[in-house]
Amino acid sequence: MNILLLGSGGREHALAWKLSQSPECGTLFIAPGNPGTALCGQNVSLDPLDFLAIAGFCIEHQVTMLVVGPEEPLVRGISDHFSQDPGLRHIAVIGPSAAGARLEGSKAFAKEFMSRYDIPTAGYREFDKESYADGVAYLQSHELPVVLKADGLAGGKGVVIAHSHIEAIAEFELMIQYSKFGEASRKVVVEQFLDGIELSVFILTDGNGYLLFPEAKDYKRVGEGDKGLNTGGMGAVSPVPFADAVFMDKVRTRIIEPTVRGIREEKIDYKGFVFIGVISVNGEPHVIEYNCRLGDPETEVVLPRIMNDLLPVFRALSEGRLHEMRIETDPRSAATVMLVSGGYPGSFSKGMEIDGLDILKEDDVMVFHAGTVSDGERILTNGGRVLAVTAYGHEIPSAVKRSLKIIEFIDFEGKYYRRDIGYEFS
Ligand code: AMP
Ligand code: GLY
Repeated sequence: MNILLLGSGGREHALAWKLSQSPECGTLFIAPGNPGTALCGQNVSLDPLDFLAIAGFCIEHQVTMLVVGPEEPLVRGISDHFSQDPGLRHIAVIGPSAAGARLEGSKAFAKEFMSRYDIPTAGYREFDKESYADGVAYLQSHELPVVLKADGLAGGKGVVIAHSHIEAIAEFELMIQYSKFGEASRKVVVEQFLDGIELSVFILTDGNGYLLFPEAKDYKRVGEGDKGLNTGGMGAVSPVPFADAVFMDKVRTRIIEPTVRGIREEKIDYKGFVFIGVISVNGEPHVIEYNCRLGDPETEVVLPRIMNDLLPVFRALSEGRLHEMRIETDPRSAATVMLVSGGYPGSFSKGMEIDGLDILKEDDVMVFHAGTVSDGERILTNGGRVLAVTAYGHEIPSAVKRSLKIIEFIDFEGKYYRRDIGYEFS
C-alpha cells in the first residue's frame, strides 16, 4: 500500500519511521517532509494545504492512505475533501473531518462539547465584540490568575495566563478589538486557572471504539525547572509515573468514554487521533484542551513505545474494525530531548551545519529531525526546534541520561537543550 504522510516536523519523522517498518508499506511519500523523513521514504514538495494537488498526487501514485500530521489541513477540511469526492473516497484518510477537527479548531466548540457530555474542565465564559463590555466586567471580578484563549487556531500562541486584572483586560482588548490573532481571536474563551500537573493522553477513535496509546508528558518552557517562555516543546517522556491505574481509570471513565460518546452521538465523522491535554488537580483529571492530531514532541516517545505495526491499526480504523486491534506497549521508558537553535523561541539563526549525525548507529536511539534542511551535502538547521533525540531506559532517568549522552556527539552553532527533562520523576 502506498502512503502519503503530510507534515514536516519531528512528529512526522517519527510517523514515517514507524510506518516505513511495516511489511505492508509500499512507497511512503512525505509532503513536504524533511531530511529525516527522506531516510524513511520519498519526500515530495507539495503544500499540505493544497488539497487539489494532494488529491492529484494520490491518484497519480496509487496512494491509498493519507496520514495527516498537523492540524491545519484537518481544520480546513482535507478529510471531507476526500470523503465527498467519489474519485477519492477509496483513499483512507487518517484524521477527522472538519466537524471533528473543531475540537481543536474552536476552543468555544470544545468547551460546549465538554459541557454537553459532563467532561471535567475549567469553568469558562466566551465573549466576542458584541459582548465585549460584559467580558471586561467579567474579567474585572475574576479570580487570578485567569486564562484567556483565542477561539481559533493561533499556532500554539493563543493562550495567555494573566496574573493581574490590568494584564487580563489589556490582553482581552488586544485579542478582540485589535484582532491580535486575526480571525482566531474574534471570539475569546475566558477560563478558570487550574493548578496541577499536566499530561498528554492519546486515543485513536472512529467514534465507536477507541484504542488508548501510551501517555506522555511534554516540557513546554524553554528553561530548566520549567522557567521562561513557552515553546513548541523542549522534550517529552513516556510513560508518566503519576498516571497510574487509578488515575487512568478516572481519565477513561470521566474523559475518554464521554468524548467518544459525544463524537458518536453528534454523528461527527471522526477517524483519527484525539490528543487530550489533561491536568491532574489533586489527583482529579480535567481537560485543558483537545487536539485532533498527535502531539509534538510527544509522538517521538509515544511511537517508539508501540511494539506492533501501526499500519494494520490505521487500516482497521478506516475499515471500521478498530475493535479487532490492540496496542502492545514496550515496558521500557522513552525520553526525547529537543535540540533547539540558540535564541528560540525568540529570534534565532538558521542554516547552521549539523555535525555528528552520521555516528549514530545504535538501534535503541533515534534522532528525529524537526527543523532541518539538506543543501545536497550537509544537513543544516532550519527552525527553532531542530532535532529530537529519543532513547529508551528501564526508568525515565536512564532514558534521559542516554539521550543526553548521544546529544554530546551532535553539534551545531548555538545548540541549546534542557538537561532536566523528566526531572520530577527521578
Ligand atoms: P494550549 O495552547 O491550549 O496548549 O495551552 C497552552 C498551555 O496553557 C497548556 O498546556 C497549559 O499549560 C496552559 N493552560 C491552558 N489552560 C489552562 C487552565 N485552564 N489552567 C491552567 N493552565 C492552562
Ligand atoms: N506538545 C504539544 C502539542 O503538540 O500541541
